[in-house]
Amino acid sequence: MEARLLLQQVLGVNRAWLIAHANDALQTNRDAEFQALLTRRLAGEPIAYLIQQREFYGLNLRVSPATLIPRPDSETLVDAALEKIPHPIAKPITVLDLGTGSGAIALAIAHNRPQASVLAVDASDAALTVAQDNASQLTLSNVQFALSDWYANLAEQRFDVIVSNPPYIAQNDPHLSQGDLRFEPLSALAAGLDGLDDIRQITEQGLIHLKPQGWLMLEHGYDQGAAVRELMAQAGLVEIATRQDLGGNDRVTLGKNPLIVSQHWA
Ligand SMILES: C[S@@+](CC[C@H](N)C(=O)[O-])C[C@H]1O[C@@H](n2cnc3c(N)ncnc32)[C@H](O)[C@@H]1O
Repeated sequence: MEARLLLQQVLGVNRAWLIAHANDALQTNRDAEFQALLTRRLAGEPIAYLIQQREFYGLNLRVSPATLIPRPDSETLVDAALEKIPHPIAKPITVLDLGTGSGAIALAIAHNRPQASVLAVDASDAALTVAQDNASQLTLSNVQFALSDWYANLAEQRFDVIVSNPPYIAQNDPHLSQGDLRFEPLSALAAGLDGLDDIRQITEQGLIHLKPQGWLMLEHGYDQGAAVRELMAQAGLVEIATRQDLGGNDRVTLGKNPLIVSQHWA
């Protein structure tokens, strides 16, 4: 299947065309291109980087070595966000996606909630270029992009929902030098000795950027649920809960800003 995908990429054709032309001879220059891709795949490079795309939440996204390859696990985070954003929307809703990478989570939310305004930020210029390109390809006009070290460039902007799939792997975890992870940006994966450095920072500053009754939702490792719940409680969030991914692993923890509007403006 992967060999077919690579051949489709080289020839710029779809699966049906390839099957219909199974007996055609391959031009020599195309064959060299195909062999080069096969060699890279055999060396372990992820297929998504070789064909420069990955499907996420039903959307076809461009990916590059500057972006994480979106994972099915992150669809749990999109589900949690969509659950908290009413449809149809009665009042304007603002959503912040911290560490957007290819834009996967921000674009899935924007696509499913066209009346929501989504701001997607990343510290990587190269990743933001890919995310912006994906928004244009999908003709989604309700997503804006900003370069920011987490909340640093957002002044005091507040949001109804903040989502993030931040780096959450411990910096010494041996998985970082195995499989697909070897080819993905370390800055998208590793977060300090216990993997919680970024989650800690995002959670500690969450209340400053949440509207009253707003939700913070974070993806994390299968064994980090208790730690993230504790961090959210320390930050003053309430109604804290952890959701499981399709594999039954703890994957997303969410908590709410307890302030109600009248308290906020008092
Ligand atoms: C695990 S990836 C998630 C990418 C995307 N949201 C997804 O789910 O496919 C984490 C992202 O956070 C970004 N990032 C890392 N440190 C950051 C920081 N200090 N401020 C903003 N973004 C950061 C990385 O560039 C990367 O795109």
